[in-house]
Amino acid sequence: MTDGERKPDAPSTATQQAARPQDDEKQLGGESFIKEAGSALIHSFFTASKTIQLYELNNEAVKRSLSEFVEATKRIIRNEGKASLRISAEFLYINDVRIPMDSQTAGPYLYLIEEMKKRGVEAFEFHPDLEVEEVGSFLKTFFEIDEAEDAFEELQDRMRQSSIRNLDAMPWIERERRLTDAKQERKDIRSESNMIFFRTVHLMRGILQAIEEKHVIQVKKAKRLTQQMTDIIQTDESILVGLTSIKDFDEYTYAHSVNVCILSMLTGDRLKLYKQELARLGLAALFHDIGKVHIPSSIVYSTTTLSESDWELMKYHTFFGVVELARVKALNEIVDAMFVALQHHVHYDMNGYPQKPEGWELRLFTKIVTVADYYDAMTSSRSYRKVPVTPDKALRFIMEKSGKIFDPVIAKTFVQAMGIYPIGTVVELDTGERGVVVKQNPQSRYIHRPSVQIIDPGTEEKGPLVNLTERADGECRYRRSILRALYDLDAGVDKHSYFITE
Ligand SMILES: [Fe+2]
Ligand SMILES: [Fe+2]
Repeated sequence: MTDGERKPDAPSTATQQAARPQDDEKQLGGESFIKEAGSALIHSFFTASKTIQLYELNNEAVKRSLSEFVEATKRIIRNEGKASLRISAEFLYINDVRIPMDSQTAGPYLYLIEEMKKRGVEAFEFHPDLEVEEVGSFLKTFFEIDEAEDAFEELQDRMRQSSIRNLDAMPWIERERRLTDAKQERKDIRSESNMIFFRTVHLMRGILQAIEEKHVIQVKKAKRLTQQMTDIIQTDESILVGLTSIKDFDEYTYAHSVNVCILSMLTGDRLKLYKQELARLGLAALFHDIGKVHIPSSIVYSTTTLSESDWELMKYHTFFGVVELARVKALNEIVDAMFVALQHHVHYDMNGYPQKPEGWELRLFTKIVTVADYYDAMTSSRSYRKVPVTPDKALRFIMEKSGKIFDPVIAKTFVQAMGIYPIGTVVELDTGERGVVVKQNPQSRYIHRPSVQIIDPGTEEKGPLVNLTERADGECRYRRSILRALYDLDAGVDKHSYFITE
């Protein structure tokens, strides 16, 4: 059915019934209901899509997944009167509400965007009378169509032939990206930073799984993502760096590689590396620990001190990394990564591991990744370090070990790039307030006075954004100054809302 054939003003009896909100969902706020029900719809759409490509329509798993999908659409229609799924600026919207993506939902989310785009579909609209069989034949048709210029036309023809009436597909329209004002630009950087961060985390999970299944690493997507990251790093990296400060993702193993990649690129940018070099550095950093895939997880995720033999085995992740990277077809693109994988635990004074053979030089990329790797590991509570340190203490450690573990120039550049209180640090102010550092002060003399988002003491939610260089009227005293950094856990702050797009 096309838009022209539908009569929105004359709903069917079924529509009227479906549009009546159910009592149990009435009290849920509109937006929070759609976010929850929308995530469920995306998930069931994904499951139905996967099962239908594996089994026939009469298979029990297929039937179950299809009816869950149909029920998810009807639940939204019952509450909201309509249900549509749309792609806009690389995000999925249910009706007009953007459904947040996080590392757990990234798989289904990105899959749907990719499959819809391949077939030129921007949106779907689901009608109240949608039936399980109809969705089944639609999905079969949808996945039979290959990526092509006229894929959308073919899809429409075949939907018409199959008499699919309760589901409409809308064509993809390329839109010009317009940045009308600074606020919009800031919002776009926030969304883009989130998208790239979670896409890269998702990609790393896929890559590590592929290695476990004995497949060769594909570097094309990783290369594209690190290239996109350079644009953000060179424009406004604060959201990306803020995301690296959130250490409680379920998939921290993958997030660690992405954090090290971002922190290395930030350092590289301050060292004035060219854009292409920055992207190469990011790619190498992303793969620094790839060899850990061959170390038993009981060792990698051990929460106790490792035995000597386990520690010896752990050290081998540097060699395993090189071996794994050597299997990549595009070897010339991965040479930097091979050096970084092998050398990232060798210290500036040549202690560390593996032992340095005569004539070995530490490469610039390695020296950068070593600092970023230490910092991210120290400030997280994963693996053998049970208690994380606050970011300011981690930076102090880096300066203390400058010339020993770390190259002095790189250590200094890193500390300056991060500021005294890095983005994401929870701080206590001299006013008794607490806040989260969200942006560094660009002037180096105000390095200890970043922008801080106050935490509302009553609700514990995001309060006003304050600049610590503000002075009280007619006074020389600053309105607010930082007293100290707090441990995230002690502060009881959920940092997600400060850096993750809602
Ligand atoms: Fe490592
Ligand atoms: Fe690491």
